[in-house]
Parts: sequence; C-alpha cells; structure tokens
Amino acid sequence: MSKKILVYLHEACKFLKENMESGPWPEVGIILGTGLGDLCSMVKGREEMAYSDIPKFPISTVEGHKGRLILGEINNKRIAILQGRVHLYEGYSAEEVCFGIRVLAMMGTQTIIITNAAGALNPEFEEGNIMVITDHINLTGHNPLRGENIDELGDRFPDMSKVYDEGLISLAISCGINIGVRLDRGVYVGVLGPSLETPAETRALRRLGGDAVGMSTVMEVIAARHMGLKVLGLSCLTNKNLPDCMNETSFEYVVNQAKKSGRILQRLIIEILKQL
Ligand code: HPA
Repeated sequence: MSKKILVYLHEACKFLKENMESGPWPEVGIILGTGLGDLCSMVKGREEMAYSDIPKFPISTVEGHKGRLILGEINNKRIAILQGRVHLYEGYSAEEVCFGIRVLAMMGTQTIIITNAAGALNPEFEEGNIMVITDHINLTGHNPLRGENIDELGDRFPDMSKVYDEGLISLAISCGINIGVRLDRGVYVGVLGPSLETPAETRALRRLGGDAVGMSTVMEVIAARHMGLKVLGLSCLTNKNLPDCMNETSFEYVVNQAKKSGRILQRLIIEILKQL
C-alpha cells in the first residue's frame, strides 16, 4: 500500500463527517454487488452521497453498479450501504477496489455483509440459490496489502485462517430457515475477469475446491480482515458454471439473474439485520 492512500482515506472520511450524518456511524455495512441494488428502497430515513461527490472515491464503469453510499435504517438497525463497487477488471488497482470498505471501517463500521453475483461450480448448486461463503481462494493475482504496510490499518501479515465469521455464517443459515430458504454454503473463487471461464478453467477451479466463481469480493474481504472487521459473504448464484453442460453466459443474463435472486437476498438480509 502507498502512504498516499491513508491521506486519501482521511480526506474522504473528513468529507463524510462534515457532509453526512451527525449521529453515530452504523456498525453494520453492506456492499451490494451487480444487480443487487433493490435493497436500498427498503432503507428508512436515508441519506445518500454519490461516490462521485466523495473525494478520491473510485467510480464504477459497469452497468448495474449505481455508485452511492447510503446511510439509514432497516428494521430499526442502522446500516451503511455501498451500492455498487469497482472491480479489478475495470482497470482499478486493488487499493482503489478497497477504498470504499476502508472508508466504512475507518468511519466505525465493524461488521460487513459483502454480496456478489457468482457462477456455480458445484454441480449440486442451482441457479438462483444463495451461497453463504465459508472461505475463498484468491486467484486474481492481486492483493490490496501489497507494498508497504500501513500499521494504522492493520498487521503486515494478517491471519486468514478464519476469514468469514462463523457466528455470522450460522446466523445467515438460520435466517434462511426463518424465511423458508435453504442456503448453500461453500468456497468462493475470486478471479480477475472480465472474460468468463473456459471449460478447462471451470474444471480446474472445481478441482481446486471452489463452489462458486466471481470477479469481486476477495480484495474487499482481505482489506476488511486486515482492519479487523467481521465478514459475512453472500453470493447470488446467477448461472451454472459447469464444464460439460455450459451454456453461453452473457453479462445481461448475470445481471437479470442477480435481480431475480436479489429479491430472496433482500429478504435474507432484512432477517439477518433483525437478528444482528
Ligand atoms: N464466472 C465469473 N464471474 C461470474 C460468473 C461466472 O460464471 N457469474 C457471475 N459472475
């Protein structure tokens, strides 16, 4: 990491303190991925800030990623939502990809729910299901902690043996039961993209131990753990990614599927917020 990033983070935080919300910053944050923005309409008493108005905040170039920070309440629980994210495949650096989550953490967020759209590698998982992420494999070739460590943010060599909080995983599963949805659970493989996988790559990812594959999340999760946040990861399985029965997958298809399973995800998150 470069020292400059710390200056930028402080600048963004100062701006938010001056221009948003005088009350305590929400302890719970949510990052909404591709096509999953509908949850925002549930937020009461909300305040919004476009990423483009926040100093140094990177702005997504991808359709389906709105790009705004929302503060407010769902079920009387205060939350901070990052609606939209930037990706490595857009050409952003790992530091830029993690800017938003680092801002939330510096502002006071302690628990982060990270959502994404992913392809199912596990043949038992159905399109439209939600997978609770139990662990990940970072195959992006990037790491947001590369370079000089910023001790103010976290340790040089953060432990990664328990990345996804076990209590939050159990909570998510039981909240799924409460709303009548059986959640899958498994390992998320993070790839760089933007090209989708070849059948040989899909086969390899499955053999490596992956249950779902996507082009986001792992950078943010590493940055979150570096800063000591508790992490819950939820994947909307938008397509089957199986080598021997692969259909062509288009971005439009992924966004539409994410919108569909986004409705279930929305109910799940509302239930989780009730229990947190
Ligand atoms: N591969 C990679 N990323 C994805 C996929 C996929 O099949 N589906 C949604 N994001």
